[in-house]
Amino acid sequence: MEPENPNPIEETLDPQDWQSLRRLGHRMVDDMFDYLQDVRRRPVWQPIPPGVKSGLKKPLPQEPRPAEEIYQDFLESVLPYPLGNIHPRFWGWVIGTGSATGMLAEMLAAAMNPNTFGGEQIAAYVENQVVDWCKEMLGYPAGASGVLVSGASVANLVCLAVARNSEASFDIRRLGLQGASQRFTLYASAETHSCIKKAVELMGLGDEALRLVGVNADYQIDLNDLQERLAADRQAGLQPVCVVGNAGTVNTGAFDDLQALSELCQRENLWFHVDGAFGSLAALSSDLRHLVKGMERADSLALDLHKWMYMPYEIACALVRDPGAHRNTFAENPHYLARAERGLASGNVWFSELSPQLSRGFRALKAWFLFQEHGIQKYARLVEQNVAQASYLAALVDASPVLERLAPAPLNIVCFRYNPGGVDEAMLTRLNQELLIRLYESGIAAPSATTLSGRYAIRVANSNHRSRREDFDLLVEAVVRIGKELEGEYAAQSVKEG
Ligand SMILES: Cc1ncc(COP(=O)(O)O)c(C=O)c1O
Repeated sequence: MEPENPNPIEETLDPQDWQSLRRLGHRMVDDMFDYLQDVRRRPVWQPIPPGVKSGLKKPLPQEPRPAEEIYQDFLESVLPYPLGNIHPRFWGWVIGTGSATGMLAEMLAAAMNPNTFGGEQIAAYVENQVVDWCKEMLGYPAGASGVLVSGASVANLVCLAVARNSEASFDIRRLGLQGASQRFTLYASAETHSCIKKAVELMGLGDEALRLVGVNADYQIDLNDLQERLAADRQAGLQPVCVVGNAGTVNTGAFDDLQALSELCQRENLWFHVDGAFGSLAALSSDLRHLVKGMERADSLALDLHKWMYMPYEIACALVRDPGAHRNTFAENPHYLARAERGLASGNVWFSELSPQLSRGFRALKAWFLFQEHGIQKYARLVEQNVAQASYLAALVDASPVLERLAPAPLNIVCFRYNPGGVDEAMLTRLNQELLIRLYESGIAAPSATTLSGRYAIRVANSNHRSRREDFDLLVEAVVRIGKELEGEYAAQSVKEG
């Protein structure tokens, strides 16, 4: 047998040459500042060439490659083809824009790379501070418990899981839904985001349990319909457990009457949850705060920080009024996670006890940084600016003879379509669908689309701190120009066909 080598080569992922990695790192930082600074000069979006897509397909790398070369690939094949949401004229879905300092804070968090599951570590204190600021800025009770998660979909799931477990009159953690003698039901308006349906399904309740209640002309939950559905379900022997109120619906930015919902929930002994993914941020503005009245009474509240707080993806917060209920849904106590009285394994809050996640990153750091860098007054002004810009766009649409607004715009969302008159519904849908595709291909602007009362709508959701009024002028000009082009093309086509 060969004698064991007393000095084996032991490997590490740290660079062999720190100096050259440092140079590369500085270059990356400079390049990314240029990238952010020049964003307005680039198209919002551009198609990914087939060669770029196929070029990404490579066998599993077996041997090392210099980081400089990979970075070059990134510059050529990755960086030029993003979704586009950091651009001043991106208004699709409800998507935030990130920020330069956010990028740097992400780097700091990645360098520290803590696992924030628990223990006595500074990241837990930073996260607690961020959760406290979230509560304070929304006027939510200071004693509530909270946890940062990836997005509002998960924040809603966390809150609804607590709702389900708290409302069960049996040990649901032990028995699951098999222990239920009555079927649970939840209530939300038909305008509620699909993540609520997903959460209800994931909780094993089946989406029939989610009663989608009608809305009024302003897309707010119809309280009479809600009351009737509750009564009918109770009559049928079901167990209503929760009402979900919307602070800003995804389609139109509508606010349910949260005050009325909170009173109803109190009367009916139901859990009151609010999906405030972006609309909860209306609480920052003295002009808009009336919209969220009653939100502070919710048993739980989900909000995103990567949407209307413009923080880099991913970050959201789940808040639960009763800390005990929150912990009771997720806390586990295996030997390998035993806590100590002092030292590394001590610590007051173990975030692993507040969501399904054990291992977690340090997403709190960017929020801690950004809250302080900008101050809440600036966020309030930006929210108001986005709302004012949406009103400006709504006025441009209303003033145009060829554009038609399709919903009220109480917040930062405007839904409209190109409609020159005399065109049937099916054709209007076809025309506006094609219009949106051409708008994307032009690289000028990126709204998204939805359907409201059967009518296809171009939908502008403004949670963009880089947008200026002139950007909405450009959007309207482009929509009208492309709409006219298409009208001409369709007319020529029908002459040819007919
Ligand atoms: C009202 C509402 N709720 C929930 C969500 C889901 O949030 P996320 O995409 O952060 O999971 C969204 C996303 O747009 C939303 O608008």
